[in-house]
Amino acid sequence: MKGSDSFLVVLETPKGERSFTCHRNEFIWNAAAHNGINLPAICHQGRCLTCAGRVLSGSFDQSSANSYFPEDRAAGFILLCTAKPCSDLRLRTNEQHLMRQHRAKLGLPAPYL
Ligand code: FES
Repeated sequence: MKGSDSFLVVLETPKGERSFTCHRNEFIWNAAAHNGINLPAICHQGRCLTCAGRVLSGSFDQSSANSYFPEDRAAGFILLCTAKPCSDLRLRTNEQHLMRQHRAKLGLPAPYL
């Protein structure tokens, strides 16, 4: 952890591991972009699931997402466009297909599936 207001975020991307610091009031997707990391996204509202990741460790605030269910959190999914870190985090990116399948299996909204 770097100071009390920023956290270390480590991303496991298809192109390898990347890390950066993210303020607790900043969306992780935006902080990644500021660090030159291009992640998938369409809506930037926590609705389309294109930015989905899987949390390997750490905690996060997803209250800014338009559509995020307790079942998503229980399965470890995170929508990076509208998620803020509450601790240091390690995530796997590019999980949109798995998150859509997870949603569809539960009968929850799965845009673009
Ligand atoms: S970009 Fe659509 S949910 Fe994140």
